[in-house]
Amino acid sequence: MKAVILAGGSGTRLYPVTQVLNKHLLPVYNKPMIYYPFSLSMLLKIREVLFIVNEEDLGAFKSLFKDGSHIGMNIQYKVQKKPNGLAEGLIIAEEFLNGDDVFYLLGDNIFFGHDLISILTQAKKDVELNNGAYVFGYYVSDPERFGIVEFDESGKVLSIEEKPKKPKSSYAVVGMYFYDSEATKIAKTVKPSHRGELEITSVNEEYLNRGKLKVKQLGRGFAWFDAGTHDSFLDAGEFVATIEKKTGLMIGCIEEIAYSNGWITKEELLRLAEPLKKTGYGKYLIKLAREEI
Ligand code: TTP
Repeated sequence: MKAVILAGGSGTRLYPVTQVLNKHLLPVYNKPMIYYPFSLSMLLKIREVLFIVNEEDLGAFKSLFKDGSHIGMNIQYKVQKKPNGLAEGLIIAEEFLNGDDVFYLLGDNIFFGHDLISILTQAKKDVELNNGAYVFGYYVSDPERFGIVEFDESGKVLSIEEKPKKPKSSYAVVGMYFYDSEATKIAKTVKPSHRGELEITSVNEEYLNRGKLKVKQLGRGFAWFDAGTHDSFLDAGEFVATIEKKTGLMIGCIEEIAYSNGWITKEELLRLAEPLKKTGYGKYLIKLAREEI
């Protein structure tokens, strides 16, 4: 399985800041927003990642992540010319995926939860073994704003709808999805919605029609932020700060994950920490290398 992270879009809900700056590179507390979804790929040991970015941000992304080898990853980049919708990323990623399964992530979604990685690992295995699609539902109070999934007690999906006027449930489909090798083919058949976008919900709907869509509910123990509005951006930053200060451990620290996965040595970790040493982030990496954490 490979990972694809969508980090284009227009970011209009964060204007005026994102009129000139890319949303995904803004700091959520102490690190760029994009580190959070990216680190999920690392935690699932998926080392081949494609970033889909806007043309004007390609240089910044490449300076930040390079080819990924310094953290044991293999990173590639593709440009999305216009924000044509979430499903378009699956088409743009065709060559990169080359028939592989995909862990598909939205660059502005942040997740935290005790069992998250084991749940995601389970979903990854399920798609690798049985094909199909695997998505996650999260309870929201304003379902009209999201892709909404309705399911029965056994977890069987009954319907999936984009921004329904009369929602059949209060479970939003969050911005991380597992798809088999059919995803690109399906995305190519999607027609633009009334707002002119290729909707990811249409892809999920096709998997549902084929009897191949699974959903897992993320319950009380999970936090999900779509950090794309002024308030949710601030909430996400405050949440990360609180958890990190309370636990003494970082969320989404990519150098730490590379080190704990055995992808970089202690010396390499210390080298990565060197330019960051004036910050809590850098000091954390140095403590890790000294086995003080
Ligand atoms: P959205 O938050 O739905 O859209 P947006 O980022 O363009 O922001 P706004 O609604 O404020 O104008 O996008 C979800 C994620 O997907 C986000 O990380 C940006 C990314 N994205 C793309 O990369 N390409 C696209 O065509 C779209 C629509 C979004």
